[in-house]
Amino acid sequence: MKSTFNILYILIFAIIAFLLDPCDANDDACGRLANDIKRSNKDSYFSVKHSDVQACFESFPYDKNLAQKTIETLKKTLQGFYVYLSEAKEQPRQGFSFRAIDLVKELDSLLSNNYKTDYQFMTDIVSLIDEMKDNHLKFRPACYLIFIYNQQLSLYSAVNNDKQVIKIFADELDKNTIDCEVTHIDGRPSIEVIKEFADTLPISRDSGVRFNFALSGVTFNKNGDLIESPGSFTIRNQLPKQSSVEYALKCANDTSKKFTREWKIRPLASNIFNTSKDYWNTFCQLNNSIELTSPNAETVVPKIYKMSECKMVYKTPIAKFFVLSDNKTGVIVLTSVLPPDGNFVNEMFELQNGFNSLEKEGVKKLVLDFSGNPGGSLELALFIVYLLFPETDPSFNLDMVVTELSREAFFQATSQSVHEDFIDASLIPPLVNISSKESIARWAAETAYSVTAIGSPFDIFSYKNPAINDHFHTVKEFIGNNTYLRGGTSTQYTSKFVNRYSERLNLFIELLSGNFFNKYEWKSEDMIILTDGYCGSSCSSIAQRMAIKNNVSTVAVGGYKDTPLSYSSFPGGQVLEFEELIAELDVVGLLQNETLADLIPPPFSIRVIFGFTLKEAYDVVNKDNVNQEDVLEFVYKPAEHRFYHDEISARDPSVLWLKAAKELLN
Ligand SMILES: *[C@@H]1O[C@H](CO)[C@@H](O)[C@H](O)[C@H]1NC(C)=O
Ligand SMILES: *[C@@H]1O[C@H](CO)[C@@H](O)[C@H](O)[C@H]1NC(C)=O
Ligand SMILES: *[C@@H]1O[C@H](CO)[C@@H](O)[C@H](O)[C@H]1NC(C)=O
Ligand SMILES: *[C@@H]1O[C@H](CO)[C@@H](O)[C@H](O)[C@H]1NC(C)=O
Ligand SMILES: *[C@@H]1O[C@H](CO)[C@@H](O)[C@H](O)[C@H]1NC(C)=O
Ligand SMILES: *[C@@H]1O[C@H](CO)[C@@H](O)[C@H](O)[C@H]1NC(C)=O
Ligand SMILES: *[C@@H]1O[C@H](CO)[C@@H](O)[C@H](O)[C@H]1NC(C)=O
Ligand SMILES: *[C@@H]1O[C@H](CO)[C@@H](O)[C@H](O)[C@H]1NC(C)=O
Repeated sequence: MKSTFNILYILIFAIIAFLLDPCDANDDACGRLANDIKRSNKDSYFSVKHSDVQACFESFPYDKNLAQKTIETLKKTLQGFYVYLSEAKEQPRQGFSFRAIDLVKELDSLLSNNYKTDYQFMTDIVSLIDEMKDNHLKFRPACYLIFIYNQQLSLYSAVNNDKQVIKIFADELDKNTIDCEVTHIDGRPSIEVIKEFADTLPISRDSGVRFNFALSGVTFNKNGDLIESPGSFTIRNQLPKQSSVEYALKCANDTSKKFTREWKIRPLASNIFNTSKDYWNTFCQLNNSIELTSPNAETVVPKIYKMSECKMVYKTPIAKFFVLSDNKTGVIVLTSVLPPDGNFVNEMFELQNGFNSLEKEGVKKLVLDFSGNPGGSLELALFIVYLLFPETDPSFNLDMVVTELSREAFFQATSQSVHEDFIDASLIPPLVNISSKESIARWAAETAYSVTAIGSPFDIFSYKNPAINDHFHTVKEFIGNNTYLRGGTSTQYTSKFVNRYSERLNLFIELLSGNFFNKYEWKSEDMIILTDGYCGSSCSSIAQRMAIKNNVSTVAVGGYKDTPLSYSSFPGGQVLEFEELIAELDVVGLLQNETLADLIPPPFSIRVIFGFTLKEAYDVVNKDNVNQEDVLEFVYKPAEHRFYHDEISARDPSVLWLKAAKELLN
């Protein structure tokens, strides 16, 4: 009798619940998540449930066919064009930490695992590729990157009385925790837990740089405001294993505190889905007729941090110029090498204006802060080197891997090239404004920039032979005969080359000369590069060229105490996105060539971002006579000097700039 009553009661309750909110009766795995999202859209404090995200992700069964296809595309792309495939099998040089990986073999071996879910399979590919520690190589399936996971607090590392500690940088929910020391995370020593997480990040071959990236610091936004740059330990884009994190704190007056913080989970896409099937069709499978849309940005006004030791004298979208309180040191902070409007020529003029302002202020020394700079345009990077060192050639030698497929790409792209002897005049913009010398110089610069831009990376007429300073005339000459043993594998590479039109930068300098171009008085010994090690790609090109070719000294900030730290990461050579590769192969007719069908990577059937390193750059012989055959990506280059943060400098970089000026620039 009693149990009948219970069943009846539950039934009635279920029916009422169903009538009240039909959505809540949805027991489709992604349906529950869809309901969470509908609620979260109405309330920006609301979080999607961790267990609902996980259930949705795990609702897609492993599909062996899809897995084989995905691996095939990855393998064929990497075997055809990934320049580090062989060298990645070598043990790291001292100072770096990563695992030597035979990527093709390990991708294959994933297929012999008995996966239950697509999520586990894709996550394993992501982790494997991230383990390569080449930040230009990335595999990011959209399906599992639709959410952002936020602890609503952030961490930093300070060295106090010779002891390295983790502290709370900011806390949205409880201001009383700020600057408390975090002794333990999930019951283990905090540094150990952060190191374990940081070592999964792909962003550097140097563990100390990964540690910095996991923690928070400050950076400048477009407007020139100093705001937090959140560390990836406390704000993530992959589903964390647990739904919350437990912190043990030691605060002022030795008071202890322990609390658990749930991940606040919000969607990054506003596309509507109601079921797992919808979710799969929208986010996971490739469908060009569906565009992912962003939700309305939350209008949280970021906290703006203040600096005590400087005043700003000029700003561009990617660079800020300051004069320090010593009245004799200028600072340039370069946060990116990619102007947000894509207007490179304008940015070149703007950067000059910035340096001119520093000159006008009479500064004698320069601190070049390249922290947190992910890179961007190599052209703009080289221009910045030229601005400060116009008399030296900032080119480093490059090469690409020669495979059956890339060889054919060189032949086909070159046979279709228009570049051997002339430039494409249709690219010259009309001269509309002759009202001033500056506007004519701008037009000339625009023209030089556009007509000399490299078209296909496989067009060998875009390159010249640095040994004889002449461009390559035949594909055979470009390919040459260069087989090196790397990672135990004999691998063929092209002849070393530099961009044929890199002298177009010299051309710029001339065009911009007269009233527009200044030769500055600053010498290399008047400058120092300061970074947190995350100065990547073309930022690394600037830093390494200045440090190696121009003898500018370097200071790295943060990392693990008493362990040297790199001043830059992932120099690479050139990155190519998979879509760009396929577009290139299509244009030159390789996709249509039946005899190559077995070598051509088939298109993905999932929605994914995939990119890889196409070119590698070589070190130069310098005073220490380093090996010219060293690939920069694999050479450990620690900074000469080292600073650590404290409670003040973590939020006020001007304190470190002044310290660098006082201690290292005299
Ligand atoms: C620490 O203790 C001192 C003296 O007992 C007290 O004045 C101060 O307010 C305490 N600080 C905090 C943050 O509790
Ligand atoms: C989801 O449900 C809503 C309301 O019932 C409907 O308007 C929408 O078309 C559905 N979306 C999909 C992708 O089926
Ligand atoms: C792609 O999306 C459109 C619009 O939702 C849909 O009609 C079509 O069936 C989808 N294509 C595939 C291959 O699923
Ligand atoms: C720098 O210049 C300002 C204003 O001219 C002056 O107030 C300040 O004392 C100077 N600082 C130093 C260290 O000379
Ligand atoms: C022409 O150039 C001058 C100076 O650079 C500028 O002030 C003016 O706005 C420009 N005119 C047009 C039509 O772009
Ligand atoms: C390429 O170089 C190797 C060793 O340096 C040499 O034995 C071989 O004959 C060369 N091949 C050609 C085609 O020049
Ligand atoms: C490089 O810079 C260091 C420190 O400023 C200086 O001691 C050294 O002589 C310089 N070397 C060259 C080759 O200019
Ligand atoms: C297809 O590729 C082969 C080399 O693999 C080449 O010899 C042939 O000319 C190509 N065919 C066309 C139509 O481009």
